[in-house]
Amino acid sequence: MSRIAYVNGRYVPHSQARVHIDDRGYQFADGIYEVCAVCDGTMVDDDPHLDRLDRSLREMRMEAPMSRAALKVVMYETIRRNLVKDGIVYLQLTRGVAPRDHAFPKNPKTQVVVTARNVKPHPAAYVEEGVKAVTAPDIRWGRCDIKTISLLPNCIAKQAARENGAYEAILVDEKGVVTEGSSSNAWIVTQDGKLVTRAPSNEILNGITRLAIIEIARREGVPFEERAFTLEEMRRAREAFVTSASSFAMPVTQLDDKPIANGKPGTIALRIREAYFRHMAAQAEAAA
Ligand code: PDD
Repeated sequence: MSRIAYVNGRYVPHSQARVHIDDRGYQFADGIYEVCAVCDGTMVDDDPHLDRLDRSLREMRMEAPMSRAALKVVMYETIRRNLVKDGIVYLQLTRGVAPRDHAFPKNPKTQVVVTARNVKPHPAAYVEEGVKAVTAPDIRWGRCDIKTISLLPNCIAKQAARENGAYEAILVDEKGVVTEGSSSNAWIVTQDGKLVTRAPSNEILNGITRLAIIEIARREGVPFEERAFTLEEMRRAREAFVTSASSFAMPVTQLDDKPIANGKPGTIALRIREAYFRHMAAQAEAAA
């Protein structure tokens, strides 16, 4: 089946989807994005994702290209045209096309691209054995709370993970404190059984999966603390995992080639992963 992309008002074959070379996304990474999981054809937590998109638009002083309702229609139409059942929908907005000048153009017209694709379930071993992570210095800018397409430091960190046979890179600041994953939020369970993840700030992206899992932890009665933790704490943790729209909750059992605890996925991580799947399935059922 040939894929279809939505580009500025038109549904076009993916292979022919184009943006202008003066698009500020191409020239300056001057744009924002969202990745939303699709479960049985339904977008998971679409409103929280679009709330975060609105926030990114405001922080970037960009114009919304259309109403939320219209955006949802485009996203669902892209999902439908690509026969996506379980996968992701990707939405990218850039500040528009203008002659190259660092300052914002006078009358920018936000450019819109939407793609969607099926994603295979993670290999069973990822969940049964957990995944490996490496650490990398967090060399990003001071506004990691904005979901911008400016992801070069994240790409460099992810590449370091790949070159070491790891699933994710855990970013660590100059004080030895964990910020987040290169494309995920980081969590630990302490030796005394407390679930810990960093509070939202300009230093991390406030993950939508993260928010859903905080709610799940509260509901399930898992003791929870929202605070920063050091790399040393992560190495000594009872469990670790990362969360995102594409990883859900993924147990991390090795960090820089050393096992975390007994090197097996933790019970809380697996319990939260299952509860998160139920959270996704419930939305698909409600939409059916
Ligand atoms: N990344 N932190 C970073 C730096 C991320 O890029 C992401 C998501 C997250 C988790 O956010 P959420 O739970 O809303 O997916 C945290 C997406 C999946 C990506 O770039 O593909």
